Amino acid sequence: MNKKPAELSADALYADPRIAKAKLLLAEAVAEHQNEIREIRPPNPALIDKTQKLLAEYEAVRGGKLFYPFLGSGIGNGVFIELIDGSVKYDLIGGIGVHWFGHSAKPLIQAGIDAAISNTIMQGNLLQNRDSIQLAKMFVEKSGLEHCFFSTSGVMANENALKLAFQKNMPAYRILSFAHCFAGRTLSLSQITDKPAYREGLPANVFVDYVPFYDYENPEASSKTALESLKTYLKRYPKQHAAMLFEFVQGEGGIYPGTTAFFRPLLQILREEGIAVIADEVQTFGRTSQLFAYQHFGLEEYIDIATIGKLSHVCATLFTDAFKPRPGLLSQTFTGSTSAIHAGMAIMHELTEGAYLGPNGKNMQLQNHFFQHLEQIAKRHPQLIKGPYGIGSMIAFTPYNGENARVMQFAKSLFKAGIISFTAGADPTRIRFLLPAGAITEEQIDAVADLIENTLIQEQGK
Ligand SMILES: Cc1ncc(COP(=O)(O)O)c(C=O)c1O
Repeated sequence: MNKKPAELSADALYADPRIAKAKLLLAEAVAEHQNEIREIRPPNPALIDKTQKLLAEYEAVRGGKLFYPFLGSGIGNGVFIELIDGSVKYDLIGGIGVHWFGHSAKPLIQAGIDAAISNTIMQGNLLQNRDSIQLAKMFVEKSGLEHCFFSTSGVMANENALKLAFQKNMPAYRILSFAHCFAGRTLSLSQITDKPAYREGLPANVFVDYVPFYDYENPEASSKTALESLKTYLKRYPKQHAAMLFEFVQGEGGIYPGTTAFFRPLLQILREEGIAVIADEVQTFGRTSQLFAYQHFGLEEYIDIATIGKLSHVCATLFTDAFKPRPGLLSQTFTGSTSAIHAGMAIMHELTEGAYLGPNGKNMQLQNHFFQHLEQIAKRHPQLIKGPYGIGSMIAFTPYNGENARVMQFAKSLFKAGIISFTAGADPTRIRFLLPAGAITEEQIDAVADLIENTLIQEQGK
């Protein structure tokens, strides 16, 4: 082969014109087939029996029921996904915030081809390829933090964050967080996540103190209550807190953003007390006016550790030099698949070089457009939905006063009508969308808003 003397064989492979040709051919084939997926459609009656059989097999093998009875077919087109029953839906939840580019996205397929011809499928601590370093540097540079450790799930990124904080601040053994927070479900994060059902039967291995979160209906009172609560814990357990975990927008808790004025005094006290601040950005990453929600709220000076996941594809714990672990604390056979690393790079490139961020970026434009629709629906039917409506590309609303059973039923009716959503929060239960901002258009939001309104009206009498 025509390799230059100083060139690596890998560089020669990636520059091989046959690869470029193959990519073109594959892109052409995908485009041709996905072109048929341009609007929602009902299930194909001829596929229903087969679908039910496959779903029953899946539920048996996983040992539990699915919230929605569906499996993806393997193709989609931006916001649209084709399911195995032949139906096409608007996918507004994207596997809970993962598929930011939508479905069968060309940049991700191209990234997947680069990964497929790479030497390894998985990467880990004893074998990273140079692409891992490129991605880690992107995360570090954009976060303002100094180091990056990859992992394969958001909860593992949080687990590693806790370890960094405990080691730095030992022998402090307690953690602070907000009421109704969600941080994942490992043994220790199940103790922090504020949901009794998620820790039923599990031994308590972390001591957690909960500060009440921002209340959008009572901003000043809630700030005062949160501050008093924090001070009380600090007095009750002096020098015993290693870290406080922050979700600047509560995700699973119901899509509730806090405010700079609420967070800053709390962060200031933590700084004075030497308690580590962990920003859990697993759900918020890439979804506000900035890459990180702490940047959206202008609070970067307080952040010691941040965790990311979901739309980044590769999850990571980012941290300042002061939190560098001693040898042995962190290591993993797998830190990410090569395809996730290449996808992560493509997503980071688009998110940071495209017109998504900033006060007038696409995230905030989508927010404003969706808010207008929801506000109009609420004006026409004040008894049917209520805000608040979320932030950036994290959209939510409360139908039917948030009564759990009715909202669950409404999510299923929306699914039948052609929209995949998910619920968030408990009392009230809300409907949530994590928009595929890399794909969705305002016209598609217009069509979705009509479907939401019609479904709300149809369901109201039930
Ligand atoms: C804020 C937050 N932290 C952590 C997690 C856990 O991430 P994973 O499910 O990838 O472990 C989630 C998942 O929903 C999340 O929303």
